[in-house]
Amino acid sequence: MEKKQMDWENIGFAYRMTEKRYVANYKDGKWGEGVLTEDANIVLNECACVLQYAQTIFEGLKAYTTKDDHIVAFRPDLNAKRMVDSAKRLEMPPFPEDRFLEAVRQVVEANAAYVPPFGSGATLYIRPYMFGSNSVIGVKPADEYQFRVFTTPVGPYFKGGAKPLTIRVSDFDRAAPRGTGDIKAGLNYAMSLHAIVSAHAEGYDENMYLDSATRTKVEETGGANFLFVTKDNKIVTPHSNTILPSITRRSLLYVAEHYLGLEVEEREVYLEEVPEFVECGLCGTAAVISPVGKVVDHGKEICFQSGMEKMGPTIQKLYDTLTGIQYGEIEAPKGWIYRIC
Ligand code: PLP
Ligand code: COI
Repeated sequence: MEKKQMDWENIGFAYRMTEKRYVANYKDGKWGEGVLTEDANIVLNECACVLQYAQTIFEGLKAYTTKDDHIVAFRPDLNAKRMVDSAKRLEMPPFPEDRFLEAVRQVVEANAAYVPPFGSGATLYIRPYMFGSNSVIGVKPADEYQFRVFTTPVGPYFKGGAKPLTIRVSDFDRAAPRGTGDIKAGLNYAMSLHAIVSAHAEGYDENMYLDSATRTKVEETGGANFLFVTKDNKIVTPHSNTILPSITRRSLLYVAEHYLGLEVEEREVYLEEVPEFVECGLCGTAAVISPVGKVVDHGKEICFQSGMEKMGPTIQKLYDTLTGIQYGEIEAPKGWIYRIC
């Protein structure tokens, strides 16, 4: 199969339409058969539940070309599971996990020419999503839904790739206690748009959100979880019921412990202890693990020892090991790599 000709090293994180996408409809209490289609457009009634009441959830994962030229996805079973959790919270009918995996497989295989080559630094981003599609005017869940999966080749999420980021402590909150912070619902991202636009306008790459109950604890950014490294090389990550349970973060903790022999701690992390850490990273499918050089808390700068030039040594090791596993250069734990073709 011949790959598309693209400037893979410089594609950035942007939507580029690929040929095929998967669509399945839910009607009369059951999911219909899924198909691949070339039609990237969706026609909806003006009163569709997703348009009026934001009943929509999504997932994000990637396909990689491995060193030995296979196409694989990374832990898609965990995305399938998380999407079930998101669906339940928004009163949507869960899409069966085995069908989720099959949909991912079919779409990636059909768009294999768009999976960036090994060594290019780019990947094929996979976006499964689901929304309430029939008209609803009183506030209630839809009766009809559409599940879709599209793909788009992407480069690094943050401009500058591995260059350390500057983030600010946000005055806006991301998630309420007992709210929807732990699921992947579109509404969590809609409410972050104003905060990210104003962060960018003020020269910051991202927002650090604090817990909205006390505003003393570190939660996450708009699209990634935090990892910190202590002076004695321990990995610390915030534990909270109002952050998204990142698959990348869970994988990195395993890598830290079982591949790098590091101690890991998942616990509440207070903003006031952040200056004590020596390295900081943002982890997620899109972000992989992106180093943070500086956190600005209302004019007060917290500068990590790792500096503003390059990743710190421990974040770098985590990055190299995780991506080594994803690209088939390092043996993966059982079940992490889902071979597509
Ligand atoms: N936190 C938020 C709010 C996200 O949107 C994402 C992206 O999916 C993550 C964390 C990272 O999660 P994962 O590693 O599963 O992609
Ligand atoms: C991902 O990492 O897959 C996400 O969904 C984050 C999003 C901000 C692009």
